[in-house]
Amino acid sequence: MSRFFLLLLLTCFPAIRTLFAQSSVIDRKIEALLKKMTLDEKIGQLNQYNGDWEATGPVTKDVDDKLEAIRQGKVGSVLNIMGVAHTRAFQEAAVQSRLKIPLLFGQDVIHGYSVTFPIPLAEAASWDLPAIERSARIAATEAAAGGVHWTFAPMVDIARDPRWGRIMEGAGEDPYLGACIARARVKGFQGNGLGNLDAVMACAKHFTAYGAAIGGRDYNSVDMSLRTLWEIYLPPFKAALDAGAATFMNSFNDLNGVPATGNSYLMRNILKGQWHFSGFVVSDWGSVGEMIPHGYVADKKEAARVALTAGCDMDMESRSYIANLPRLVQEGKVPVSLIDDAVRRILRKKFELGLFEDPFRFSDPAREKAVLNKKEHVAAARDMAERSIVLLKNEGHLLPLSGELRSIALIGPLVRSKKDMKGFWSLDVGPLNDVVSLYEGMQQQAGNTILSYAKGCDITDTSRAGFAEALSKAREADVIIMAVGERADMTGEAKSKADIHLPGVQEELIKAVLSTGRPVVVLLMAGRPMIFNWTAEHAPAVLYTWWLGNQAGNAIADVLYGKYNPSGKLPVSFPREIGQIPLYYDHFNTGRPAKDEKDLNYVSAYTDLLNTPRYAFGYGLSYTDFKYSNLQLDKSSLHVNGSISVSFDLQNTGKYAGEEIVQLYLRDIVAQPLRPVKELKDFTKLRLNPGEIKKVSFTIDRSKLAFYNDKLEYITQPGRFQLMIGSASDDIRLEATFQLLQ
Ligand code: NOJ
Repeated sequence: MSRFFLLLLLTCFPAIRTLFAQSSVIDRKIEALLKKMTLDEKIGQLNQYNGDWEATGPVTKDVDDKLEAIRQGKVGSVLNIMGVAHTRAFQEAAVQSRLKIPLLFGQDVIHGYSVTFPIPLAEAASWDLPAIERSARIAATEAAAGGVHWTFAPMVDIARDPRWGRIMEGAGEDPYLGACIARARVKGFQGNGLGNLDAVMACAKHFTAYGAAIGGRDYNSVDMSLRTLWEIYLPPFKAALDAGAATFMNSFNDLNGVPATGNSYLMRNILKGQWHFSGFVVSDWGSVGEMIPHGYVADKKEAARVALTAGCDMDMESRSYIANLPRLVQEGKVPVSLIDDAVRRILRKKFELGLFEDPFRFSDPAREKAVLNKKEHVAAARDMAERSIVLLKNEGHLLPLSGELRSIALIGPLVRSKKDMKGFWSLDVGPLNDVVSLYEGMQQQAGNTILSYAKGCDITDTSRAGFAEALSKAREADVIIMAVGERADMTGEAKSKADIHLPGVQEELIKAVLSTGRPVVVLLMAGRPMIFNWTAEHAPAVLYTWWLGNQAGNAIADVLYGKYNPSGKLPVSFPREIGQIPLYYDHFNTGRPAKDEKDLNYVSAYTDLLNTPRYAFGYGLSYTDFKYSNLQLDKSSLHVNGSISVSFDLQNTGKYAGEEIVQLYLRDIVAQPLRPVKELKDFTKLRLNPGEIKKVSFTIDRSKLAFYNDKLEYITQPGRFQLMIGSASDDIRLEATFQLLQ
């Protein structure tokens, strides 16, 4: 930024002036403190230990007395510690240290703190950015009241492989949607800015390309072109950074042969260099030391040198920094300026959070009691859960259910489950009793309808012993609702699976129940896309309900009874078979694309399976129908700095009020290097009453047309573009072309 421009900004905008003034005050305080610190105290700031709540990685037992280490100034941050009583005890130790530098408390607040919200992938299915931001806002408000300063979220890793257990924690396969959601989550967590008592630091993770683990096996290597890295995997990180993410976490994987934790191209060159990131980078759990089994360094001393030099500021639980950096500095192998830079970054956040003014400002028991589990938090969790549900099939308008039914049978291993509704990465802060099971949700709304229940089988059962009871309940019911899927511990960190079919005999149970001839609604509850081909083909109504959090049962009942008209759309492609993975909509066309599903004449196709997914990215039905018409472009061409206004009419042609997520895709028809067959470039979510027509508008400009060439330059190329507007990536309703001029 030029000096003149900076002066102009400072003169015209008092808020910016205040921020600058605050940050220079903080800078002065940091420098003053840094002068007083010994080398050991500096290195202590770069050290993060696990607390006493739980362990979210392999435990190292080489520190007997953590509180004593804190008193000695050897710890800068503690993770996995929640609740004001716990955090206060640790902070009291910190303020007994020579320089009284407060600790940072970090926690995986991934989808709610006390009130559990839907898992992130489910929330992504809402495409509802204000709702997602609100979910993060509430999580932050509760977490901050519970003594937490820092959440290790959002996870913004693009994931195109449902075998990878951590697909549940992100926003799916698409960089554009992923970037929008990353922004919303960071804004939600950090609210009006660090220093407010309801804001926690966000942490964009895992930097980077962790989601592309080969074979979907967690922690595995990643091998990809830098062009793919920049185009697909980096945009959500850039969006998180632009939204102000205070911290980043690096990742377990190696990228093209260099572990991300020791990858200076990623952290020094891109993040802190080209992107000017001023926050700090924390390693993942033990990942500094894991460069030894990677085969990248011989010992922890080398690991510490490589990681710090590459730009990793804080060492989570590997203890490599605390044990080796003092010697590395003395031996002249690590310049103290690098340590100082990392310490400055960490101290700045402690100042911004207001911890130096009052280390206990997040430790107020009265506030904790008042803020957790507020009614409005519970209501927001229900709303978010409704928005996350995806209607996959609704033959003969079986749904919504009539309130007049005589009886409903609830069948399946997940009907009464509470724990599984919370999903992986949920916290045990609120009581399990606060979770509403499907059974309880239905009881609330069933009125005079008689509800019966049979489990049928367990999730991973091989036994059909419970089928008979389920069938007898099914035969007596007007409608059957089946709740099948995964246990909460089946998809998450270190929960990769080679087989993602609906587990156990659950699909057998569905077949048996459908053979009664009664109408059946199947609810699929899971953290990842599962494969359930028979059900998709034969069950009349299918809903994907993920793991929806505390309000799961209420939200599902709201949708089943039509109190909420489902509006979710899949943020990730659902494969027909494992052999199609990785599967994503924005692929290249190849030189031999198949003409249609039957074409096998030397084309790019499987001989034993269709190319297309079972359900495409962006797919999801509603109880109502939407008609797209009257597409208009205000021009047929644009210059690179110009724009085209696109508009069309969207009409609700059905009987129910409902929301539609309108998606805009582009294809750069001829380009070098190649461009995908379509790319999501914009979307909007609109609510329409029956019969209502709304005009929808989008703008096409350079930001939607540019891409990375193989020199990693962000360029545009003149030529024809295809514009596609639709209800899903495979359900395009309106098309046009336009020209980008020289
Ligand atoms: C390992 C996970 O990869 C990371 O996402 C998480 O934040 C840390 N453990 C801390 O729990």
